[in-house]
Amino acid sequence: PYYTWIDKETCIACGVCGAIAPDLFDYDDEGVAYSHLDNNKGETIVPSDVEEDLLDAHESCPTESVKIYQKE
Ligand code: F3S
Repeated sequence: PYYTWIDKETCIACGVCGAIAPDLFDYDDEGVAYSHLDNNKGETIVPSDVEEDLLDAHESCPTESVKIYQKE
């Protein structure tokens, strides 16, 4: 399965990830994204039905701030 979090240091609050994957990403008061699966800890399995959205968001972020990793 996949896991995800946002690198909030490099996110420029462009708003793309939440538009692509609203089930995964939301924005704080400054517009900086975070994963709302687990408050950006990156420890919660991404539900399989939003994996495609995750990969899309990962590829679409202009600053490569949508982090993903995969583990068994
Ligand atoms: Fe930030 Fe990238 Fe999302 S810049 S708002 S993490 S698409």
